[in-house]
Amino acid sequence: MNDSPIGVYDSGLGGLTVWRELRRLLPHESLLFLGDGKNCPYGARPREEICYLADEAVGRLVALGCKLIVVACNTATAAAIDFLRAKYASLPIVGMEPAVKPACLHTRSGVVGVLATERSLDGELFRRTAARYGRDVEIVTLPGRGFVELVESDLEDSPAAEACVRPLVEEMIGRGADQIVLGCTHYPFLRATIERIAAGHGVEIVDPSPAVARRVEQLLDQGALRAAPDAEPVLEFITFADEDYRLKLKRKAEAVDPLR
Ligand code: DGL
Repeated sequence: MNDSPIGVYDSGLGGLTVWRELRRLLPHESLLFLGDGKNCPYGARPREEICYLADEAVGRLVALGCKLIVVACNTATAAAIDFLRAKYASLPIVGMEPAVKPACLHTRSGVVGVLATERSLDGELFRRTAARYGRDVEIVTLPGRGFVELVESDLEDSPAAEACVRPLVEEMIGRGADQIVLGCTHYPFLRATIERIAAGHGVEIVDPSPAVARRVEQLLDQGALRAAPDAEPVLEFITFADEDYRLKLKRKAEAVDPLR
């Protein structure tokens, strides 16, 4: 048994879509969420810079006593996961897998759409995954430019979101995609908008965060790291931005917490 928190890190609010799945699956676990905020968005920054930012963030979570780290950011995972696992070798670190595998297994049309940040799509991790699972499948990738900014501004259900998202979703559907993978943890906040645009086209939206929570559960069990079954979880939020941003993280988390 181990009542230390699980550290969850993202460039900003997006990682809360993973945080909520952790709450659902592991209600007794304490969670320490670090939403960078100061350097968000990461999506178009150079790989080395993202790696540096991820190191700072994970270093902070480790210093605060986390027993396991979830890099709840596809972009940071793509840029830094190998580096982080080598540097913090004694700690289990879970990253975001681009959910290309389930999408390729489920597609009937043979076309899979992937929405992610620029840096995720041009990374080695994505190339490897796409090559491994997408052999007989056409993978249409489009960077969700402006998506992260919409979510960070609480505009995910606005006409502006609809206008930004529509052309990309329509392009994917036009090219025959019947699966749309959400390859950035901010994008599940736009799910309702994406679903509205895709309605009637038989498109399945693929969000990898429940699978990430299941992977965390597995690693907790493997390392005998679970909190006591009667533990009262502590939910904390920290940021590299200011107090207003920290309160925003907390409010947004409370709004998506399945246990509230
Ligand atoms: N939430 C992030 C991801 O999963 C980062 C987005 C960004 O900061 O550009 O990729």
